[in-house]
Amino acid sequence: MLDASRTIPGKVCSGFPSGIASKQRDRAVRRFRETVKRSSHRIIVCSLCRDTVTALRSGEGLCADLRSMLSLQPAPSFAVETIDCMAGCARPLTVAFKAQGKATYLFGSIDRGTDAGALVEFARLYASLPDGWCNSGQRPARLAGKILARIPAAGKAREQGR
Ligand code: FES
Repeated sequence: MLDASRTIPGKVCSGFPSGIASKQRDRAVRRFRETVKRSSHRIIVCSLCRDTVTALRSGEGLCADLRSMLSLQPAPSFAVETIDCMAGCARPLTVAFKAQGKATYLFGSIDRGTDAGALVEFARLYASLPDGWCNSGQRPARLAGKILARIPAAGKAREQGR
């Protein structure tokens, strides 16, 4: 622990200037941890998938919808990103969930208009699971039949024979 009586103004101790009050330092550490935690959960949406009926690309729109809906949710929040193709082109629109130390999911046949709520519901479930592993009975009913892959986190394959 930092001894305030021995600090020299302007000197850097433990990565922080010694003149910074402990509350400010604690707040900065908390913010940093929240950022790390938040950025470790990602929703990745294909930006190139075309709707099978309209032929429109709806990935960017779905990202905007998800960001908006997730901003109303309690922490942890997700980084929502796009990528050009996740090799699920036969089942557009594809959406992946990924986090450090957790199983990765790839969903396909996602409809921007009707599935965004189910994806947010799944995000809440995913965030609550220590290893991200869940079965079809736990996932939102709207996502039934839309899962293309469930890949265990590195080193978890043998533990998860469920
Ligand atoms: S174009 Fe979307 S998965 Fe390939």
